[in-house]
Amino acid sequence: MKQLVTLTEFIIDRQGEFPTASGDLSRILNDIGIAAKFVHREVNKAGLADILGLEGTDNIQGEQQKKLDVYANNQFISALKAGGQCAAIASEENEEVIILDNPISNKAKYVVAIDPLDGSSNIEVNVSIGTIFSIYKRKSEFGKPAEEGDLLQPGIDLVAAGYVIYGSSTMLVYTTGHGVNGFTLDPSVGLFILSHPDIRYPDHGNIYSVNESNHIYFPEAVKAFIQFCHEDDPSTKRPYITRYIGSMVADIHRNMLLGGIFLYPGTIKKPQGKLRLLYECKPMAFIAEQAGGKASDGSRRILEIHPDSVHQRSPFYMGPSAMVEKIEEFIRFF
Ligand code: AHG
Ligand code: MN
Ligand code: MN
Repeated sequence: MKQLVTLTEFIIDRQGEFPTASGDLSRILNDIGIAAKFVHREVNKAGLADILGLEGTDNIQGEQQKKLDVYANNQFISALKAGGQCAAIASEENEEVIILDNPISNKAKYVVAIDPLDGSSNIEVNVSIGTIFSIYKRKSEFGKPAEEGDLLQPGIDLVAAGYVIYGSSTMLVYTTGHGVNGFTLDPSVGLFILSHPDIRYPDHGNIYSVNESNHIYFPEAVKAFIQFCHEDDPSTKRPYITRYIGSMVADIHRNMLLGGIFLYPGTIKKPQGKLRLLYECKPMAFIAEQAGGKASDGSRRILEIHPDSVHQRSPFYMGPSAMVEKIEEFIRFF
């Protein structure tokens, strides 16, 4: 029988890639994996349990939170608090950065930015949703409470990032800057098993994913790119394929495996688009680059943007390098 590699074994094996590793990062990654299993359990009974329906509170974007958003947020925060290796957390669901001000967390080396439940509009209709996470080394003084500034680092300083997709199976995909690996949860034994080693974008793709209902508000360059997608691709003799789930984790996961670009452009009404730089775009950009692709705001590499605030938004284009370069070319031309 083929030797199975679990997420925990893999994380420990890979610790050697960091010569000074103390095991703290491994512990955080494991804690995230454990919290993801609890979220998986709740997601899978979403149609049965009284977990559905609105929680009755708004998150800071003014969007109504679903109960599962709150559950997932609490689950990841508790895991990171209990672990003791994380000094502060920025979450989509919390206006302020959560400073884990206690004697153990104050000595922690890392901070985490998280979108605990991505694609919340899909919860109640049994469509794939996800979690996005990212880990930085703190910059503030050890032994003292972390600061908001610890989370406002550019993506090039990311230590690790990944996502969990709760789909037809639950998968955890992550990178520490040495390629991207995917693990599928075997729910019967409760273990994430290495199923997708060294994930790479195909060199080219023929899928594009964008919410085209915003078309009239898109910049002319984006309209022109979409027009280009509607024309016959010389290699397949048919236009690109449209696929859009409305959960970026799921759209990006599919596009990374099959070859496709994900677009969330700015619009006339919202020039910065919808997606959040810190806990949506940057972690995904790290994954993109580690999978041989690119992620851009149209003219800048996402990983090089210095964030000004925790909840700031950014236009976002991610996919195989050639496809992202194509949209950048259109944007330069217009
Ligand atoms: P969240 O559920 O965390 O608020 O994120 C939803 C995001 C993203 O996952 C998705 O790609 C996008 O919103 C969909 O937005 P539109 O409905 O505007 O297409
Ligand atoms: Mn999201
Ligand atoms: Mn969310």
